[in-house]
Amino acid sequence: MKDKLTKLFNEASEALKDATKEGQIAQIKTEFLGRKGKITLLLRGLSDISPDKRPAIGRLANEIKTSLEEKIRASLASIKERQKQERLAQERLDITLSGRKVSIGKKHPVTETCNEIVDIFLGLGFQIIEGPEVESDYYNFEALNIPKDHPARDMHDTFYISDEVLLRTHTSPVQIRVMEKQRPPIQIIAPGKAFRCDSDVSHTPMFHQIEGLMVGNDITFGDLKGVLTIFAQQMFGDKTRLRFRPSFFPFTEPSAEVDIQCVICQGQGCRLCSSSGWLEILGSGMVDPEVFKVVGYDPDEITGFAFGMGIERIAMLKYGINDIRLFFENDMRFLGQF
Ligand code: DAH
Repeated sequence: MKDKLTKLFNEASEALKDATKEGQIAQIKTEFLGRKGKITLLLRGLSDISPDKRPAIGRLANEIKTSLEEKIRASLASIKERQKQERLAQERLDITLSGRKVSIGKKHPVTETCNEIVDIFLGLGFQIIEGPEVESDYYNFEALNIPKDHPARDMHDTFYISDEVLLRTHTSPVQIRVMEKQRPPIQIIAPGKAFRCDSDVSHTPMFHQIEGLMVGNDITFGDLKGVLTIFAQQMFGDKTRLRFRPSFFPFTEPSAEVDIQCVICQGQGCRLCSSSGWLEILGSGMVDPEVFKVVGYDPDEITGFAFGMGIERIAMLKYGINDIRLFFENDMRFLGQF
């Protein structure tokens, strides 16, 4: 019996050595220690052994069982450990791999240009005022000396919401709103969106303008020229030459369009300036006495100048962009350049 026990123990130990899976271990356990296992069955014969030898064999049997159980536990543990190591190796993260680049957002070129223009005028003492984008016919036209049948209305291609309500076609109505509320001196700029039913390489249905207004007791055309010259030279370079060209706007008299010498050819004539050597950057003029009367100012006492410019147009000239629609297509290849 002793020999048989030792033999079974060795047999089981060998089997355990070869086992690589949990299932195999379980099988070995059943094969030797289960209810019908080889060792269990052998020990059933213990009662046939003479009583004097029984205790020694019983002790040996217990030792063998305990030792085998211990071996089984150890095998299971080593298999589990090996599986864990394998899993870790499989799931291993390569932390030396470089990460995906997150691109950082930045301001839209129109916003950037607007801020740049605004900063120049803030430096000259102007204050920022905003007005509504949905405007009445009165503020957008009537009060600016553009009555119902005036030909200047044709140039505005207005989006009407009703007979009396529209999307403002320019930022000029803010002039009226400010003068209605405040007494001179006034020195404001009004940046914002404007809308016209128009679309081609130089027009989009929505675009941005900055309006300017300076009103007081003795504001002259000389002030207009001085302020706009400082603006243009800060925006386009201090060597920039300007030209004040007579023009017409219903709300200014006299009126002038302001050109800068072409930023590409310096006046020699090129495609950008249509061979003229000059680029128009804004409209301006001395506030028309009719406009002062509308807001209750005395035109004999109060004078002032106003101006208005398209922000996209300024950005196009500054960066040499030839199609205004590029600003609104959200193409990252375009926007990423600024
Ligand atoms: N509101 C004009 C337009 O959109 C631009 C303009 C011209 C504004 C002359 C002015 C000005 O304030 O004095 O075409």
